[in-house]
Amino acid sequence: MAAAETQVPGISRREFLYYIWTASIALYLAEFTGLILWFAIPKIREGEFGGVFNVSPTAIPGINEPPVDNAEGRFWLVNLNTSDSTGIERMYQASDESSPIEGVAAIYKVCTHLGCIYKWNDASNRFECPCHGSKYRLDGRRIQSPAPRSLDRFEVTLTFDDGSSESSGTDELGQFLPVPLDGRTVVGMNVDTGSQKKGVELTLLQDLV
Ligand code: FES
Repeated sequence: MAAAETQVPGISRREFLYYIWTASIALYLAEFTGLILWFAIPKIREGEFGGVFNVSPTAIPGINEPPVDNAEGRFWLVNLNTSDSTGIERMYQASDESSPIEGVAAIYKVCTHLGCIYKWNDASNRFECPCHGSKYRLDGRRIQSPAPRSLDRFEVTLTFDDGSSESSGTDELGQFLPVPLDGRTVVGMNVDTGSQKKGVELTLLQDLV
């Protein structure tokens, strides 16, 4: 014979268990939704390191001119063109580089050796690290070790006056390439410091003839 159903004043045992079960499911769904939202909402805001920096096109230096420092974004902006003899002492084409290097790049300000903050040296026309003496060309390629590789770069997106836009491509080694200007006028620029690619290990420039 079935056991008699326990009665709670005003509510049956079956109803009570049903309400508990419904409340548990609702709580679980609320936690699950909260977790999804927590992962979906970006934690880093625009203009904070790790996020996207909206940079004025006027910040772009002239061709092969010294780099422009972006302190908040922790990058140097450079405008390279090895087909242009302007500032060639800063940005020259090495003997193992078959194609011209042209365009705008954003270079991470941390040395690839042990993470010191290197500086641009106007007298020597190169980046120099004060910690152990690594040196880099204007585009971040290693001139002198102990740095194990060239400087890292962030993804750059340029918008042009014809309405088009172009982002950093990558070379066969996976390094971000400068965004070429091709004579176009830049009207907008973003640097995504959350999108970073490591510099590559090429022959030291000091070892090339
Ligand atoms: S950290 Fe830059 S050379 Fe060592």
